[in-house]
Amino acid sequence: MFDARQAYADQQSDPTAAAAWSAGNTSGAGTFMSYCVSCHGDLGNGDGVLSESLDVQPRVLSDAGFLSSKPDEHLFTVIKKGGASVGLTENMTPFEGLLSDEEITNVVAYLREEICRCEYKE
Ligand code: HEC
Repeated sequence: MFDARQAYADQQSDPTAAAAWSAGNTSGAGTFMSYCVSCHGDLGNGDGVLSESLDVQPRVLSDAGFLSSKPDEHLFTVIKKGGASVGLTENMTPFEGLLSDEEITNVVAYLREEICRCEYKE
């Protein structure tokens, strides 16, 4: 299975990635670029480089219809605790321990403002 933690470790040993990392560590954009693009794609279209190797495809996060059906608390939980915590695939790995709650909150805001450009609608 794909080992997300090893992939991040490899990425952090890349000097360019490491510089980008220290520049924008807690911002939602920086977190998205560092941790999410590999699967979800840089625009959130589900077409990241790792997506082809996954049996369950990454969610299309740019899909406003889908994201507006999900409360922020749900997105936070999926990111922190992983897909399996809400009955989704474990391909969506948990980020607890890698990202602080603040970073997860910021990346949820980034999804809303820049990726789906949508709000939760009950
Ligand atoms: C190893 C690949 C991978 C990485 C890295 C990854 N995801 Fe995912 N993600 C997935 C997959 C696969 C799904 C689809 C889960 C399903 O449909 O069962 C998913 C689903 C999601 C969902 C939708 C949850 C739902 O209710 O359907 C959100 C939101 C999400 N990811 C956000 C993120 C964010 C933010 C990051 C970066 C912090 C991230 N993902 C990193 C693979 C990944």
